[in-house]
Amino acid sequence: MILRFLCKYKFNFKVGYLYEVYRFPFCCLKISISTKQIVMKGRIYVSKIIIENTPSLKGYIRVDGAKNAALPILAASLLAHGASILEDTPKLKDVESMCELLQWLGPDIRILENNTVQINSSRIRKYAAPYELASKMRASFLVMGPLLARRGRTRISLPGGCAIGTRPIDLHLKGFAAMGAKITQGHGYVEAKARKLKGAKIYLDFPSVGATENILMAACLAEGQTIIENAAVEPEIVDLANYLVNMGANIKGAGTDTVKVVGVKELKGCTHTIIPDRIEAGTFMVATAITKGMVKIENVVTDHLKPITAKMREIGIDIEEQDTSIIVNAQDRFKPVDIKTLPFPGFPTDMQAQFMALMSIVDGTSIITETIFENRFMHVSELKRMGANIKIEGRTAVIEGVKKITGAQVKATDLRAGAALVLAGLTAEGETEISEAKHIDRGYYEFEKKLISLGAKIKRIEDDED
Ligand code: EPZ
Repeated sequence: MILRFLCKYKFNFKVGYLYEVYRFPFCCLKISISTKQIVMKGRIYVSKIIIENTPSLKGYIRVDGAKNAALPILAASLLAHGASILEDTPKLKDVESMCELLQWLGPDIRILENNTVQINSSRIRKYAAPYELASKMRASFLVMGPLLARRGRTRISLPGGCAIGTRPIDLHLKGFAAMGAKITQGHGYVEAKARKLKGAKIYLDFPSVGATENILMAACLAEGQTIIENAAVEPEIVDLANYLVNMGANIKGAGTDTVKVVGVKELKGCTHTIIPDRIEAGTFMVATAITKGMVKIENVVTDHLKPITAKMREIGIDIEEQDTSIIVNAQDRFKPVDIKTLPFPGFPTDMQAQFMALMSIVDGTSIITETIFENRFMHVSELKRMGANIKIEGRTAVIEGVKKITGAQVKATDLRAGAALVLAGLTAEGETEISEAKHIDRGYYEFEKKLISLGAKIKRIEDDED
């Protein structure tokens, strides 16, 4: 009865954004309550976003801490004896999932005010990450390196693939094996054991972000020196390394393709502020451009935005860089451009869908080549439902700009595709309805609220699925 009332009025729980599981003995109904929706056995509430054609966005927004820095840093906190204070930790579904997994493993996590998370990993009770927790998000696999280094063994559900690709983990496992871990796989799990990891020289066939992070974390407590060659150089790697060094790790070369780590006996908790989210910033840059608006985007690291800013300027959009903010002014005519996604400092794959939405309405032919993931064009069919003229040839999309696109019912297939459809809805004629909007919550906190503060006509509907 109580639950029906709560469900009916979609009572928003302010239990912090941590995932709490309550059991009601009288009806043995297991209910999971999060800040966004109530999921009861047999009935699922779905999120839709409705967008009306929006005039030029104007005003300013503040970017949150980076999802792709917060996730590895939360995993890395497992390495420390004692508490870490992580400031500017974004309130995202993926961060919630990672906190839930860490709580399962043993650490004590507290959500403090102002997006600060305190995590104390003095006690790690478990070394296994179960399917129902680890399968929620690929980044759960990042606990493997810290658990192997701290506990000497770990058993993790294999991360599934996702909409954008198979997402293999062979490079992660190659690194752990080189450091002396015994790896076995079976029944959907991978197990790794090593009494004590030994430093090794590891060459990554591809500069994988996740593999660089996992191996880097494991190497911090290994015996001797580890050299990671052809390492990823993304800003999130540097932020992780800075956190590890603040905990007492001995790391040189993070942010270059050769990272040297000399293992230490123990790491201690510390206070760290997560870097701003360059992809959230880039998404709002495109939102400003697609509505020919003028917006100041605050809390950015301009160096992290270089590939995005350069491409914007090539299109003809005026970008003014200040210390910790940028001003986007998109009044002029745009020019079509070619984009090829590459590892940092190349153009980020996580901005590909958003730029495709923009190029859909730029007169002329634009070519976008996706070199990182094998299936990251799921948004194309949805944009075409809105009238975009896009042809896919293998890993390349050829976009013929149209005068206007029109609102339609479309579906978010992954978080960046979902964000791209929101941007398309801002400029489309009429109303756009985006289903599966929960994907967006994985990478953007209060996305609609921030857009509304800039003048967007957008709202979210939580509906029960009959
Ligand atoms: C990270 O994913 C990001 N996620 C992704 O962001 C981002 O798109 C990606 O890096 C590339 O920049 C997080 O940081 C949580 P990879 P990750 O390992 O680590 C191949 C978003 O939207 N590969 O660099 O999984 C793989 O198949 C998300 O925020 C192997 O072959 O990316 C892919 O083709 C999406 N073997 C390429 O490398 C491996 O062992 C890039 O993967 C690992 C990866």
